[in-house]
Amino acid sequence: MFPSDKLIHEKENNLRKWFVRGLNKTKAVIDGFDIGWGGTAVWSTKKISNYINKDLNMNTLDVACGYGTFLVELGWRFPNAKLYGLNLDFNPPHKVISSLLEEANVSAQLIASDALFPPFRKESFDLITCFLGLQDIEITRGINKLGYLLKNLMNLIGKNNYLVIIDNFPLSKFNLVFEKGLIRKNLILQDSFQPICKWSFEIGKEAVELYSAGYLQQELIGENPPNNPEKALIAIKEKMFRDLKSQIEEKGYFNPWGTMTLFIFKK
Ligand SMILES: C[S@@+](CC[C@H](N)C(=O)[O-])C[C@H]1O[C@@H](n2cnc3c(N)ncnc32)[C@H](O)[C@@H]1O
Repeated sequence: MFPSDKLIHEKENNLRKWFVRGLNKTKAVIDGFDIGWGGTAVWSTKKISNYINKDLNMNTLDVACGYGTFLVELGWRFPNAKLYGLNLDFNPPHKVISSLLEEANVSAQLIASDALFPPFRKESFDLITCFLGLQDIEITRGINKLGYLLKNLMNLIGKNNYLVIIDNFPLSKFNLVFEKGLIRKNLILQDSFQPICKWSFEIGKEAVELYSAGYLQQELIGENPPNNPEKALIAIKEKMFRDLKSQIEEKGYFNPWGTMTLFIFKK
């Protein structure tokens, strides 16, 4: 048996306490969400576990691992896995990944690389995951590169192994990406999850400030950085703020993440 959901939630609660130490209440809610992503991590690793042999010391690569919040969930759910985390860089704010892994008691080898050009040989991995990575790789490299990315990732897994994508794109956008990657035929599971996230207007306002700054930072290191960053930031903020206002009006709470969709592809 793999470790239970209950055990993993306990680990999340402990890690979250450490992660948000010293923050004010609002910031603790926003940053604390990244640990577990409102239940999405537990839900998705459970889904993946249905396909995995628990005794396998599987080589597992998490692409666009960021701070490593999903990487630690993989380590908790699959204690026998040999973990690798790839991200464009591990400079601040991503530098925190080393202490996060240590605090979570999970070991992983970290590789700073563009996901489009991963430095691995064909069929090196038994499992590749990409958790909320497509959204950022779209910002840095453009949507047209995502099909190419997925085709490359499929090349990195061996026969009968799995590529798992979890992101919050609308389905029409996933369809576009998968068509270009020509990997639809390998799809064996598609499922969706509503992260538990019901933020007030006040928390939402602060989240918009933080997320819009993060979005701009990705644009600035991407292939088409905006000419006028200040103007770009205002435009991103206004778009996010409109979404915040309409969600509060419609539902009475704000969920900036929308629906998470999970796809499992088998080679
Ligand atoms: C929002 S994070 C995803 C969440 C992350 N998987 C986690 O568990 O915390 C997206 C990451 O994608 C990275 N990224 C953006 N473009 C990239 C690229 N072309 N190649 C590799 N990583 C990229 C960013 O640096 C960022 O850390």
